[in-house]
Amino acid sequence: MSRTPGNRGSRADSRVVTGSELTPQRREETAAVLARDVRVRRGTAEALRGVSFSIAAGRITGLLGPSGGGKSTLMRAIAGVQAKVTGELRVLGVAGGGAAVRRQLGYRPQAPSVYEDLTVAENLRYFAAIRAARIDGLLERVGLGGQTHQLARDLSGGQRARVSLAAALVGRPRLLLLDEPTVGLDPLLRRELWQLFAELAGEGATLLVSSHVLDEARHCHDLLLLREGQLVAQLTPSELIARTGTHDMDEAFVRLIEQR
Ligand SMILES: Nc1ncnc2c1ncn2[C@@H]1O[C@H](COP(=O)(O)OP(=O)(O)OP(=O)(O)O)[C@@H](O)[C@H]1O
Ligand SMILES: [Mg+2]
Repeated sequence: MSRTPGNRGSRADSRVVTGSELTPQRREETAAVLARDVRVRRGTAEALRGVSFSIAAGRITGLLGPSGGGKSTLMRAIAGVQAKVTGELRVLGVAGGGAAVRRQLGYRPQAPSVYEDLTVAENLRYFAAIRAARIDGLLERVGLGGQTHQLARDLSGGQRARVSLAAALVGRPRLLLLDEPTVGLDPLLRRELWQLFAELAGEGATLLVSSHVLDEARHCHDLLLLREGQLVAQLTPSELIARTGTHDMDEAFVRLIEQR
């Protein structure tokens, strides 16, 4: 990973609360994504207002924060599908965002996209054909083994969300960008999906998972907290708890903002 002399990534912004379990240098050396002063203009306003951070490879990073904070915009920028991105963004060692490394990315947009007139299995085979990959066991992994022949239009919202998740997993991408993959799911299914994410990280994948449910922070190895287009903190869940003195993630987030 190359480094710009004199610029040390997340260290550059002294207003961002950073943890110490991973040093900035170690973070950069192992980074799957490195962002420096990334800005995105959407409409008349800036959706991202200069964010600098790194995402460690082989770990689950939670992208958390209130609605409108810029989570989806950041995911889109990393996936290489967002216009008007400025600053430095290195994805899997390649400069300029995700477009050049798209084959190694699995991106699940916030609005699940499935083909209504195809069955669950046909939807997945379609995505697999594009990537020249196989779908072995993927529907079982997301708990849809019993729905393979059901038409997508007849699925519940949560089932539809999981088809979209399975599509992102096709071809074993090195970097998974999952935008609110657990929204609308029941607690049992949420827990199963977080177990799946842990398994995927254990298999070597890097995961960036967004959620506006701050409690889901406890399933992540690292956290990025975004608010109003700015990074509030990059730390681990245990650092967040230690720094704020509470295990209540909503309260921890509030205290962190108050401490800044
Ligand atoms: N298509 C668009 N055109 C103009 N502005 C947009 C567009 N999409 C999003 N924005 C703005 O960009 C900002 C960031 O939105 P974004 O969708 O990234 O937030 P988010 O953190 O993902 O929110 P949520 O938790 O509701 O999904 C918001 O102020 C939003 O109004
Ligand atoms: Mg969003």
